[in-house]
Amino acid sequence: MEKVLVLDFGGQYNLLVARRVRECGVYCEIKPYNMPLDEIRAFAPNAIIFTGGPATVFEEDAPRLDPAIFEMGLPILGICYGQQLMIQELGGSCRKAEVREYGKVELTHDGSSELFFGIEPTSVYWMSHGVEVESVGAGFRAIAHTKGCVYAAIENKEKKLYGVQFHPEVLHTVYGTEILKNFLYRICGLKNEWTMANYVGEAIAECRAKVGSGSVLLALSGGVDSAVAAALLYRAVGERLTCIFVDHGLLRKNEGDEVEHAMKETLGMNIVRVNAQDRFLSKLAGVTEPERKRKIIGEEFIRIFESEAKKIGKVDFLAQGTIYPDVVESGMGGKSTVIKSHHNVGGLPDCVDFKEIIEPLRRLFKDEVRQLGIELGLPENLVWRQPFPGPGLAIRIIGDITEEKLSILRDADAIFREEIAKAGLDRSVNQYFAVLTDLRSVGVMGDDRTYDYTLALRAVETQDFMTADWSRLPYELLDTVSRRIVGEVKHINRICYDITSKPPATVEWE
Ligand code: XMP
Repeated sequence: MEKVLVLDFGGQYNLLVARRVRECGVYCEIKPYNMPLDEIRAFAPNAIIFTGGPATVFEEDAPRLDPAIFEMGLPILGICYGQQLMIQELGGSCRKAEVREYGKVELTHDGSSELFFGIEPTSVYWMSHGVEVESVGAGFRAIAHTKGCVYAAIENKEKKLYGVQFHPEVLHTVYGTEILKNFLYRICGLKNEWTMANYVGEAIAECRAKVGSGSVLLALSGGVDSAVAAALLYRAVGERLTCIFVDHGLLRKNEGDEVEHAMKETLGMNIVRVNAQDRFLSKLAGVTEPERKRKIIGEEFIRIFESEAKKIGKVDFLAQGTIYPDVVESGMGGKSTVIKSHHNVGGLPDCVDFKEIIEPLRRLFKDEVRQLGIELGLPENLVWRQPFPGPGLAIRIIGDITEEKLSILRDADAIFREEIAKAGLDRSVNQYFAVLTDLRSVGVMGDDRTYDYTLALRAVETQDFMTADWSRLPYELLDTVSRRIVGEVKHINRICYDITSKPPATVEWE
C-alpha cells in the first residue's frame, strides 16, 4: 500500500494534515519528528510531510532532523516550521519576519511549479508565522510570494523537495486541497486508492489474523465507533464475538432500540442488552455536580459490563472502538498532545479476564469509521449520527436527574432533531440537541397560568469540537421547533436558543 509519513513538529493543525492526505485517497500516519531513520525506512513511506510547529529554528533546543532524511530520495513537503527547517538544513537561512503574517493572506504563485498546477495565480492562503526564509540553498527557488514574504513557497524540482510558508491543510486556504493533491499525485506520483471500499477486506483480514481462533468481547455504548468496531469484528470472527450493550437509560428517544435492531436484525449479530436505567438513576439520585455525574456513570458502566462479562468467562480479546485521533491525542502518534480530561467514560474494566486488547479502528479517522460502517452494511441513520456524549442525557439535564425529566428532554430533543433533518441541515450542523435547564418560569396556556421548565436549544458548527460556533439556524425553523415543543411536550413553557460560541462556552452545558 502506498503511504505518506507525516512527521509531527507539534503544530496545532497536525491531525488535519493527516486527515486531508487521507481525504485525497492516500494512506498516511503521523509520527514524532524524531522517529529514527531505520524506523522510517522500515515504515517505507512513498513521501514525507513535515508539519508546522510552535518552535523557531533559531532556538537552541528547537526540534531538528537527521539530515540523512534528505538523502533517502523521497519527495518531501515542509509546511511552515517544516519548510524553515528544511531550508536551514540544506544551505539556506531564516530570519525573524519583518511583517508577521497571521490569518488570511493574499499569495501569488508564478505559474512555473507543479505544486500550483491548475490553481489561480492569486488567492487567499492561511498563514501563521513570525519567521521567514531569508535565502535558499543550491537547487531551491521561490515559486510563490506574498506582500511580506518572498519565499512563500519553494521548490527543488530535481530532488522533489517542496516547502510552503502557509497551511494548505486549513480550509481558509482556498486551494489547500488542490495543493496537497498536486504534491501527492503530480509530484509523488501517488494514486487516489485509499478508500473504505478498498480497505474493508484488508481490515477484516487483519482482525482474523490477530484473533486467530480466539474469542472477543466488546462493550457497545450506543455510539458510532463501538457499533462499527462490532460490525467489523463480526464480519471477521462471527459468533466468536460477544457484544454487551449496557443501556444506561440515558440515550436519546428510541436510540437503544435502534442500536439493538441494527445489530440484531440488519447484521444478524447476537448481542446481550442490559437495561440498566434503574440502576443508573438510583446511583444518580440527587446528584447535581456535572463531574460527579460523569464519574458515577463511567464507574457504573464498567461494573455492569464486568458482571455481564463474568457470566461469559474468560475471553481472549477485549475489543475497543478507539479511533485514530484518540491514538494521536493521547500522545502515541506524534509530538502534539491534546488533553481531553472529561471525554473518556469509564476506563478499562479491571475484573474482566482477557489476554489482549484489540482496537480495529485505531488507524481510522471519524469520517473513515462512518464510511467503513456503510461498507459493512450498517444503516445510514446509525452511522451518520451526530456525536453523543458517553454520559448521555445526564449532562443535558441541569441539576438532578429524574425519570420524568428524562422523558421531557427525550421528547423535546426528538422534535428538534426531526425538524433539523426536515430542513436538510442534519449533516451541515455538526451537533444539535436540547438541554433541560432547572429553571422554571411563569407562562400562560389557554386561560391557565403555568410554572414550568425552560428548555435550551443548542446547535453548533465545528471542525474538531475544540472550538465551535453557534449555528445561524433560520428563524422559521426555530419558530417551528419552539411551537412544536411547547405544544407537544408537557412541562415546557419557554424555549431559549444558545448563541454562545466555544470558547468561552462549551458545546455541552455540563
Ligand atoms: P464540550 O462540552 O467539551 O464538548 O465542548 C465537546 C465534544 O465532546 C462531547 N463531550 C463528551 N463526550 N463524554 C463523551 O464521550 C463526555 O463526558 C463528554 N462531554 C462532552 C460533546 O458532546 C462534544 O461533541
